[in-house]
Amino acid sequence: MTKRQVIIDTDPGQDDALAILLALGSSQELDVLGLTCVAGNVPLDLTTRNARIICELAGRPDMAIFAGCAEPLERSLVTAEEVHGKTGLDGPDWAEPAMQLQDQHAVDWMIETLLAADDGSITLCPVGPLTNVATALTRAPDIAPKIAEIVLMGGGYFKGGNITPAAEFNIYVDPQAAKIVFASGVPIVAMPLDVTHEALMSKDWVASVGALGTDVGDKCQAMLSFYERYDVERYGGDGGPLHDPATIAYLLKPELYTGKKVFVDVEVDSELTMGMTVVDWWGKTNNPPNATWITEVDSDGFFGLVLERLAALG
Ligand code: RIB
Ligand code: CA
Repeated sequence: MTKRQVIIDTDPGQDDALAILLALGSSQELDVLGLTCVAGNVPLDLTTRNARIICELAGRPDMAIFAGCAEPLERSLVTAEEVHGKTGLDGPDWAEPAMQLQDQHAVDWMIETLLAADDGSITLCPVGPLTNVATALTRAPDIAPKIAEIVLMGGGYFKGGNITPAAEFNIYVDPQAAKIVFASGVPIVAMPLDVTHEALMSKDWVASVGALGTDVGDKCQAMLSFYERYDVERYGGDGGPLHDPATIAYLLKPELYTGKKVFVDVEVDSELTMGMTVVDWWGKTNNPPNATWITEVDSDGFFGLVLERLAALG
């Protein structure tokens, strides 16, 4: 079976970490070409540190990791240490990474890699603010046909926002970038809060991660126990949503997900609704659909897949 070539654009973040581990634990199906880091949950120097820590944890010190944009296109950076902790990867005690970052800027590498690829051969999985992806599309529009699809975590419509009443964090941090990506014409699958809030971690599931008896399991249990406290305090319930791995789970088992092709645009003018993903769910405009908006997931299937692939990392 030919492996799907993937670039993960990320702002680790504990849930980004689980997405990266899910991808690296699925080496039969996915060929991760590299990780491009962006400022988001924490500043760029920490997202690049955290990406290297996670790749070393996965036994992949060979992974190409690139530093990308340190600031959104127009707005000042908003971070989320209240959710992810000061380092962005709070929970376990981490040693500083030994592996080095690549010298090339993430956007330059993304453009170079895509231009050298066959049409429709590479999937982008952005799980942070879309600054890197939008910059690449703006600087080199010829990369668009090279991208098979963009499977992103971001946005919210039926579930509202998580950083403001109207906006989800990844879109809110860089709404101008998100507007560019949704208008790019590249096929998009969006994993918004509408679906990620349908798959909430349970204490038993987090315990089953720790029961794997591996360093990966131990570190993930510590990350997830730290990360979910914020959402449990805010939303109540047994556990919080595990946002970013939804993108990788979709690549592996799309049958776990249900969505609808719709037209999506992003608010970039009003401060009240800045970064809101405005979804034309009932086709009230004549705008052709530009995204598949996912709203349902087989939660048991999702968590079973994540656990299975974490176990595969040994
Ligand atoms: O709103 C959730 C998203 O914001 C996730 O990608 C999380 O890692 C943060 O970046
Ligand atoms: Ca993220």
